[in-house]
Amino acid sequence: MFLISVARFISQFSRWEFTRPEWLTKNVLIVCGIIAGIAIIAAIVIPVAVIFSKRKHLTSKEIVCHIIFSKTVDSVAATTNTTTDAPVLAYWNFEGNGNDLYGVYNGTSNCGSCQYLTTGFYGGTYFYIPNTNNYMQVPASSYFNLNSRSFTFEAWVYFYSLSTDQPIFSQCTCTTCTSQCLFLVVRSSKLYMGFNFNDLSGSTTLSTYTWYHVAFVYNYQTFQQIIYLEGVQDAIRSSVTPYLGTNGSMYFGALPNLISTYYYGIIDNAQLTTRAKSSTEISNDAMQVFYYSFDQPNPYYDNGPNRLNATATNILSATTGHVGQAVRFTSTSSYLQICCFTGVGWPSSRSLSFAMWISPSSINGGNFVYSTQGYPMLGLTYSGQIAAQILEQAPVNVWETIYGTFAVVNTWVHVACTFSVTNGFILYVNGVSQGAITGISTYYFNYNFQTIQMGTGNGNGYIPSYGFQGSIDEFYTYRRELSATEILALASV
Ligand SMILES: *[C@@H]1O[C@H](CO)[C@@H](O)[C@H](O)[C@H]1NC(C)=O
Ligand SMILES: *[C@@H]1O[C@H](CO)[C@@H](O)[C@H](O)[C@H]1NC(C)=O
Ligand SMILES: *[C@@H]1O[C@H](CO)[C@@H](O)[C@H](O)[C@H]1NC(C)=O
Ligand SMILES: *[C@@H]1O[C@H](CO)[C@@H](O)[C@H](O)[C@H]1NC(C)=O
Repeated sequence: MFLISVARFISQFSRWEFTRPEWLTKNVLIVCGIIAGIAIIAAIVIPVAVIFSKRKHLTSKEIVCHIIFSKTVDSVAATTNTTTDAPVLAYWNFEGNGNDLYGVYNGTSNCGSCQYLTTGFYGGTYFYIPNTNNYMQVPASSYFNLNSRSFTFEAWVYFYSLSTDQPIFSQCTCTTCTSQCLFLVVRSSKLYMGFNFNDLSGSTTLSTYTWYHVAFVYNYQTFQQIIYLEGVQDAIRSSVTPYLGTNGSMYFGALPNLISTYYYGIIDNAQLTTRAKSSTEISNDAMQVFYYSFDQPNPYYDNGPNRLNATATNILSATTGHVGQAVRFTSTSSYLQICCFTGVGWPSSRSLSFAMWISPSSINGGNFVYSTQGYPMLGLTYSGQIAAQILEQAPVNVWETIYGTFAVVNTWVHVACTFSVTNGFILYVNGVSQGAITGISTYYFNYNFQTIQMGTGNGNGYIPSYGFQGSIDEFYTYRRELSATEILALASV
């Protein structure tokens, strides 16, 4: 039974591989099993997923275990069944239209003056809704059933006004009935998750003119509503009666039959799925910018949540990687460009992290992370010393550099750097800190939405412009500071 359950889960998950939830995209073998015997009538079997996202040579260090509590049958009582329904997923990337990427829950706008504009949080277009009765509607004929089940709604949002309720998303069966109207809004400048008279308010006060990743989760197993802001839990409420709506359109930017205020802002990359994503998955959706495994046959395919495939490459070849395959920089004019790292501000105090494996074929200097705004951050000196640098803006305008150990020809070494105002700028080699520069309150990296380049740079600061010669693998980028423990984990695969 256990193996049958495993097999079913694999086949179910393979169907929604396109969404690449965080735990699916890691270069890992996912193994898990837990049996929780808590139901009155029967035990709930929590299935096991074994996913091989790397094509070869998995080692024990690449094994990550995820426990998925997903009893998805509708009735709490009737759970002797060990199978689960495959989660339903809809994804609206708002690239010039309101279509669901999976073709089922297409939206159309009623807009006179709303528009698809550039640039979305990670490029392309976003959906802009002015403060008039404009919205995107997915018709009731494409009904998305959220009744008495787990679900997760996520989106990138940006507000021009927070002075009235800002309806992000809704589906409503009955405006006067308890738990029959789902509305995800900003109310009193805080995120707010309503089932109707069965609601949860967030705790953080939002600002206008700021991008946010927002997530609203209902967990039918634990009967909890959970709100996440920027990947971090913002509020939670327990013993919540499930949402009981049975019909209705879905709306972005409006809740026409319940509240009459209008959305004034931007929505981008929204997704809705019938399972409760874990806090780890939501953190990753919000904070991972990209992840390249450089594996064949699609070496320049972004395995992260934002699908930021490499946009330009020059004189690269495939080679054996530290894990699976890697990309090899074979000429001093080899480079790879990824569009784009979202703007951190000018100057910035935002956290970030870059991490990867490198193996030089010769010592030539070179760049691992170069913001094409003109700022190399991670690379090798002429003599092959691993270096991280940042152009501090305040309190002093100066290049700050940390030198680490020397790279050795044809030897894989893990390099990473992180920044946060609290812990400063840190260089890690093989998971070990090589030093931290603290006291930086602001720095320069990119003004707005900027291409990240690997290989060559412009020679600013102490990292020469020379092209790196050798291989790079497992490149991760985050909009947050990874902890020393997290860096060590990446350096231990
Ligand atoms: C278990 O669930 C599957 C899929 O929903 C269904 O086809 C099957 O009949 C169920 N089995 C039992 C014993 O309820
Ligand atoms: C949604 O739009 C896509 C792309 O135009 C189309 O292929 C698909 O049939 C549409 N689905 C529905 C349900 O209309
Ligand atoms: C939803 O169902 C209720 C009860 O059958 C009905 O009164 C209502 O008009 C329906 N709403 C929609 C949007 O179909
Ligand atoms: C990224 O590359 C993959 C594999 O080549 C492709 O299937 C996918 O459509 C690409 N994504 C985008 C957004 O271009």
